[in-house]
Amino acid sequence: MRKPVIAGNWKMNKTISESIELVNGLKRELIDIQEVEIIVCPVYTALSDISDLIVDSNIFLGAQNVYWKTSGAFTGEISPLMLKDVGCKYAIIGHSERRKYFNESDQSVNKRIKAALREGLTPIFCVGETLEEREANKTTDVVKRQLSEGLEGLEKEALLNLIIAYEPVWAIGTGKTATPEQAQEIHGFIRSWLVENCSEEVAESLRILYGGSVKETNIKELMQQNDIDGALVGGASLDSSSFVGIVKNSLG
Ligand code: 13P
Repeated sequence: MRKPVIAGNWKMNKTISESIELVNGLKRELIDIQEVEIIVCPVYTALSDISDLIVDSNIFLGAQNVYWKTSGAFTGEISPLMLKDVGCKYAIIGHSERRKYFNESDQSVNKRIKAALREGLTPIFCVGETLEEREANKTTDVVKRQLSEGLEGLEKEALLNLIIAYEPVWAIGTGKTATPEQAQEIHGFIRSWLVENCSEEVAESLRILYGGSVKETNIKELMQQNDIDGALVGGASLDSSSFVGIVKNSLG
C-alpha cells in the first residue's frame, strides 16, 4: 500500500510570521491525521522557524529546490546538507517554474536528484508537458525524456526513496485541472515506464502525485484514480482551510 502524500508548494509566498500563522492553523486542524504524509515547502527564510514549529508533529518539511554541491563558491545556492541541517526531509526538484524561468535542464535536475538522495533527502521530482507539447501529441515523449534523463544513472534501490509529481504546465495556477482521466493516463504511463526501466518493486511502491490547480473540490476524484497517490498543491496550500480541506478530502 502506498501512503498518500499531500504536499504544499508555497512558491515565493509568505513572510516568516505569515508562514508561522499558516502552519499553526494546519497543526491545529490536522493533528489527528496519520493516514496521509503531510508536507509543507515554505520559502528558505522560513524553513528554520517552521522546522521548530513542526518538531514531533505529523507535518514534514520540504525545500523548493536544492543544489548538487555540498558547499563552496556558489552564490545564491543551497546544499542538501544545509537543508538536512535545517530539518528538511524532502526537496522539490525540476519544478516547471525552475525549468522555465531559471533554465534548469534535465541534466541539472539529474544532478540535484542524485545529490539530494546521497544526503538522505527525498526528492519530489516534477515532470510535465506544456500546452504546446500536449496539443502536438508529445505528452508521453516529453514525460519519458524527463524521466529517463532526470533519473539517469540512479540505482534501483535509490529510486525507492523518490516521489514523482506529474504537473502538466497548462494546469499550474490556471484553474484548469487535468481531468482525473487525463491525469490517470499519464500516471499510468509513468508507472509502466518504472516497471520497464527500474523494477516492479520500484513501480509498485513509488508515490506519484498530481499537481496543477488541485482544490478541495477536485482532490477526491483525482485520488480515486489507481495511480494517483497524492497531490502537490500550489495556490490552495497558501490558505489553511483550503489545504486542510484537501488533506481531509484526500482520505476517501
Ligand atoms: P497550483 O496548485 O497553484 O496550480 O500550482 C501547482 C504547482 O505548481 C505545485 O508545485
